[in-house]
Amino acid sequence: MAKGMLEKNQVIIFDTTLRDGEQAAGGRLNIQEKLEIAKQLDKLGVDVIEAGFPVSSPGDFEAVSLITQEVRRPTICALARAHPKDIDRAWEAIKEAEHPRLHVFLSASDIHLLHQLKKTREEILQTSSDMVARAKKYTDDVEFSPMDASRAEPEYIYQIVEAVIDAGAITINIPDTVGYAIPEEFGNLIEGILKNVPNIKQAVISVHCHNDLGLAVANSLEAVRRGARQVECTINGIGERAGNASLEEIAMAIKTRQDFFNLTTGIDTTQIYKTSRLVSERTGFGVQPNKAIVGANAFRHESGIHQDGVIKMPLTYEIMDPRTVGIPASSLVLGKLSGRHAFKERLAELGYSLSEEDFNRAFSAFKELADKKREITDKDIESLVAEEQRTVSEVYHLDRVQVSCGDRGIPTAAIRLTAPDGQVLADAALGTGPVDAVCKAINRLVKVPNVLTEFSVKSVTEGIDAIGEVLIRIESEGITYTGRGADTDIIVASAKAYMNALNRLLASKKSSG
Ligand code: KIV
Ligand code: ZN
Repeated sequence: MAKGMLEKNQVIIFDTTLRDGEQAAGGRLNIQEKLEIAKQLDKLGVDVIEAGFPVSSPGDFEAVSLITQEVRRPTICALARAHPKDIDRAWEAIKEAEHPRLHVFLSASDIHLLHQLKKTREEILQTSSDMVARAKKYTDDVEFSPMDASRAEPEYIYQIVEAVIDAGAITINIPDTVGYAIPEEFGNLIEGILKNVPNIKQAVISVHCHNDLGLAVANSLEAVRRGARQVECTINGIGERAGNASLEEIAMAIKTRQDFFNLTTGIDTTQIYKTSRLVSERTGFGVQPNKAIVGANAFRHESGIHQDGVIKMPLTYEIMDPRTVGIPASSLVLGKLSGRHAFKERLAELGYSLSEEDFNRAFSAFKELADKKREITDKDIESLVAEEQRTVSEVYHLDRVQVSCGDRGIPTAAIRLTAPDGQVLADAALGTGPVDAVCKAINRLVKVPNVLTEFSVKSVTEGIDAIGEVLIRIESEGITYTGRGADTDIIVASAKAYMNALNRLLASKKSSG
């Protein structure tokens, strides 16, 4: 987005969930999941989607091209190191976009120059402008990031920024790559750039803050206060190490404290909750209960004094109306006697629009659940729809799970699966516990070497009849795959989660040839 296109007082929201967010250890997404998230980011109203780093893998290239074809409103950005091959490949992936952007980056701090790149400042300056000029031949919308800018000498950053603007960059992104900056200091850097770079008016200043000291949002907001007009952020703040600045916190801070910032964003805040749930579900990264804006406790009042105040007047202890972020108003909904119509309506209220086939599957799962559980809440419905969606792209399908366990017998599991060619396979195994037995029985059938690195269970709602959600991470050839499964029986949920992780591993192996 060129500077002239910026509405007065608008902060551009640049979402990097699919690039920096996905870089988080264990957060790997498949191509369909990336597309699904990109479509939801479009509904959320982000201005720019950084869809990936095309040179990094054929899968990333394919995901970026697919998003480019199917998501047409926002700018679609592809990341490239300051190498001709990266830039050419990134352009190849986004060239059909309605609004393509190339994002070129190169380290700028002496720490990186001396110890990693072994290059002089002059060499880096030259390469930065040469590579921006190369990108500019493809598109007018070129962004440049001097990596590790917050630890570089400000005067050197001014020099680089001036040079790359001369070469054609129209967005200058200042990354706090290792989350080292302190708000006032980072704000001074932004102000310094505005004051000391003669051609800065030809570009938009962007910021990209990591959360190693828990300051990513504070640093981004301070930068905005000092003149930055693009913020790079991710849903739920996911990303490398401690993550990136959280999109929902940035958007809600600007909206809630409009009196202070006097700025706006294009975010439809009522889509925040849904987007957060989707990203959490697909990446397997849960949202901590006390997480601002989207955590389970973010709008819960436990203290009697607070509850009393909120009943009298919500404003006493609530600075935001939960409905502004799209948190569903009611939580108690359906039961055994609820029919198709009521289920369909509740799905629509929760923001789902399922195809006829998906709806039918979700409805039978709902009926099955209603037989086991008296009250079906919104959270149950979300979990159930997610479980149904997980089965859509599976390679092997889990048909049956049967387990015998207890404090006397040897835990034993029998498993029946349907293979990709339709063949029905069955086997059994012993284990140290029922989950171990289930995984061993599945392994005897699927035969893909892997190591289980994480296993956790949580209940979706309160109560002994609650759905249990299991998250499993497995590792194969150095890559982590996350699987999730939900069921009122946690052993069945574990089998579903393990199958989900294995299916993702198999699909990824297939797509990388
Ligand atoms: O953190 C960082 O510096 C980055 C750059 C590629 C912008 O992610
Ligand atoms: Zn980053």
